[in-house]
Amino acid sequence: MNEGLDNGPAIEARGLVKRYGDQVVAVDGVDLSIPANRIYGLLGPNGAGKTTTISILTTLLEPTAGEAKVLGLDVVKQAGDVRQRVGVTFQEMVLDDELTGRQVLDYHGRLYRMGKTERQAKTEELLALVELEEAAERKAKTYSGGMKRRLELARALMTTPEVLFLDEPTLGLDPQTRARIWDYLRALKEESGMTLLLTTHYMDEAEELADTVGIIDRGKLVAEGTPQALIEEMGADTIHVIGEGDREAFVENVSALPFVQAVDVGRTVIQVGVDLGSKRLVEIIAQATDSAFTIQDITVAKPSLGDVFLKYTGRRLRDTDSTQTHHRMLLMS
Ligand SMILES: Nc1ncnc2c1ncn2[C@@H]1O[C@H](COP(=O)(O)OP(=O)(O)OP(=O)(O)O)[C@@H](O)[C@H]1O
Ligand SMILES: [Mg+2]
Repeated sequence: MNEGLDNGPAIEARGLVKRYGDQVVAVDGVDLSIPANRIYGLLGPNGAGKTTTISILTTLLEPTAGEAKVLGLDVVKQAGDVRQRVGVTFQEMVLDDELTGRQVLDYHGRLYRMGKTERQAKTEELLALVELEEAAERKAKTYSGGMKRRLELARALMTTPEVLFLDEPTLGLDPQTRARIWDYLRALKEESGMTLLLTTHYMDEAEELADTVGIIDRGKLVAEGTPQALIEEMGADTIHVIGEGDREAFVENVSALPFVQAVDVGRTVIQVGVDLGSKRLVEIIAQATDSAFTIQDITVAKPSLGDVFLKYTGRRLRDTDSTQTHHRMLLMS
């Protein structure tokens, strides 16, 4: 880990703790070191401490213990300086909904002293990105929850801060919009050198978008790495085989292969644990031919970030989705 040593990390936290009363430890000793020009995805279930962490890093909350720096500036002692150099959007909306969508963006640009030409161009670009062109002249208070979220995200993207914090940026948005926003954020990072910290409880978002993923659970960072490294750490691939013929012979021959780590014979599917699925597929198929076994279907299953999450937390992130939706509906009503 010697990236960013030249100028230090863009975001740094040491032993960050946030308590609410005596009962709740929302953030429980989080260490972060995020180099500049990265997308860091903080992945975790409801109540894990994601929003609290972002609130501390953006100076809205003071930590109970520990310290944090953004762009080398202390988030408590130099809060004003930090605020000038970061952008943030929260999962709970803070829009002035008497304004039209276009006005929200335009006023935000004015606030940040953007010139007229740039402001207008950016407004139109972002209205298109979040698919609010048609609704741009309507007051935000007439927007649906999803539309308000999209507007909120567009507003955060009006200016180009050095560090941008996004709290669940694509929550509840449809797959196409989410994919377009991911592309936009990636391009933004490439072009502007921006550092992004985003929270999400979507596995695919973390996997697709983040250079580094931190898994947070009950206020603690339980794992960290590139999505690829975290997944590879899970170990072997599994090849799933469905077929007919001499199953016993096939299983026996496959089991004898040196690179095969485990064979699990189910009623229809035979699961073969191997070191590297893509490389071993052909050899497994060859064994079928030798064993008078006809393969009808063969696939390589990769462990997913979901499996990583399960390993570190003992829970499936998916389990949290229904409560998440419920929680969000309460917020929006
Ligand atoms: N103002 C508060 N007073 C008391 N407890 C709080 C307060 N804000 C948050 N908490 C608690 O702190 C913990 C972390 O909350 P936080 O909002 O940071 O989680 P999160 O990861 O953002 O969750 P979600 O995915 O639901 O947004 C939770 O247990 C929450 O109930
Ligand atoms: Mg939150």
